[in-house]
Amino acid sequence: MNNYTLLTGAVGGLGQAFVFELLKQNKSLLLVSTKQEKLDNFIKKYKEIFQNKNIKTFVCDLSKKEQITNLINFIKQEKITVNTLINNAGVIIEGDLENFSDEQIENAIMVNCIGTLDLTKNIIKIRDKNQKLEVLTVASVASRYPIPHMGVYSATKAFLLSMMLSLSYEYSKKDISFSTVCPGGMATTQEMKDSIKSMGIGGKLSTLSTEKVAKIALKGLKRGKRVITPGFFNKFLVFLGKLVPITFQAKQAGNIYKKSQIKRGLYKK
Ligand SMILES: NC(=O)c1ccc[n+]([C@@H]2O[C@H](COP(=O)([O-])OP(=O)(O)OC[C@H]3O[C@@H](n4cnc5c(N)ncnc54)[C@H](OP(=O)(O)O)[C@@H]3O)[C@@H](O)[C@H]2O)c1
Repeated sequence: MNNYTLLTGAVGGLGQAFVFELLKQNKSLLLVSTKQEKLDNFIKKYKEIFQNKNIKTFVCDLSKKEQITNLINFIKQEKITVNTLINNAGVIIEGDLENFSDEQIENAIMVNCIGTLDLTKNIIKIRDKNQKLEVLTVASVASRYPIPHMGVYSATKAFLLSMMLSLSYEYSKKDISFSTVCPGGMATTQEMKDSIKSMGIGGKLSTLSTEKVAKIALKGLKRGKRVITPGFFNKFLVFLGKLVPITFQAKQAGNIYKKSQIKRGLYKK
C-alpha cells in the first residue's frame, strides 16, 4: 500500500523528533518544510538513518493558500494515500498586541490556524475512504488558558484545540480520528530555551524533551486519545485550571509571562 504520514514543520525541533520516532515504526514519510534546502540538509545529515526508507519531501509555506493547493496536487500526482497527518508546524510569538506588526499577527494566525485547517480539510477530502485517517495536531498547554502578553499565540492554539475536538466528534463515525497534543516547554529554539530558563522551577517542571513529547503524542494518537497532555506537571496545571475561574488563570499566567519577559528584556510597556 502507498500509505504515507504527512508531517509539517518536519525539520524543526519537535518535527525532527517525530521523524525519528515514525521511522522506528517503519512509516513512509512525506516531510514538509518551508525550504527545500532545510529538507535536503536534514536528510543529508542523517543519511544512514534515512537509507532504504520511503521518504518524500515537499516545500509548502502554510501561510500561502496556493502552496497548500500545490501540496495537495503533489499528493494526487504521486498517487499516495496520506493516512496520518501530523500538523506540527507552528509560529510562536510573544509580546503585547500593539508591539506586533500586522504581518506578524497575520502570519501566526495564517500558519497556526488557517493554513493548518485548510491542509486538514483538503487531506480529509482526498482521503481513501476505505482506510482510517489519523490527524495529530500540535497545540500547546498555552491552548488551555489565556496568556496575557502572549495572547495571540495562546489564542491560536486554543483555536486548534477547539477545532480539532469539534472535528473528532463530527467525523467519529467516518473512521477519522483527531488527536491534539498540548506540550508544555520544549527547549527547541534559543528563544524557547531562554523562556524556559526565565520561568525558573515552573519552566523546568513543565519542560520535556522533544523525543519524549513525540513518543507520548504518537502513543496517544495510536490509542485514539482526543487530548494528549505530556508530563505530570502539565497535567496538574490543566487539572488546576478546572478548579479556578478562567479570569484567575489569565491573571496568574499573565503575571508569570510578564516576569519572564522582563527577565529576558522583552517586555515593552
Ligand atoms: N517549543 C515549545 O516550548 C513548544 C511548546 C508547546 C507547543 N509547541 C509547538 O510545537 C510545534 C513545533 O515547534 P518547535 O518548538 O519544534 O519549534 P521550531 O523548531 O521553530 O519548529 C516550528 C516549525 O514550524 C514550521 N513553520 C513555521 N512557519 C511556517 C510556515 N509559514 N509554513 C510551514 N511551516 C512553518 C517551521 O518550518 P521550517 O523549519 O520549514 O521553516 C518549523 O519547522 C509548534 O506548533 C509549536 O507551537 C512548542
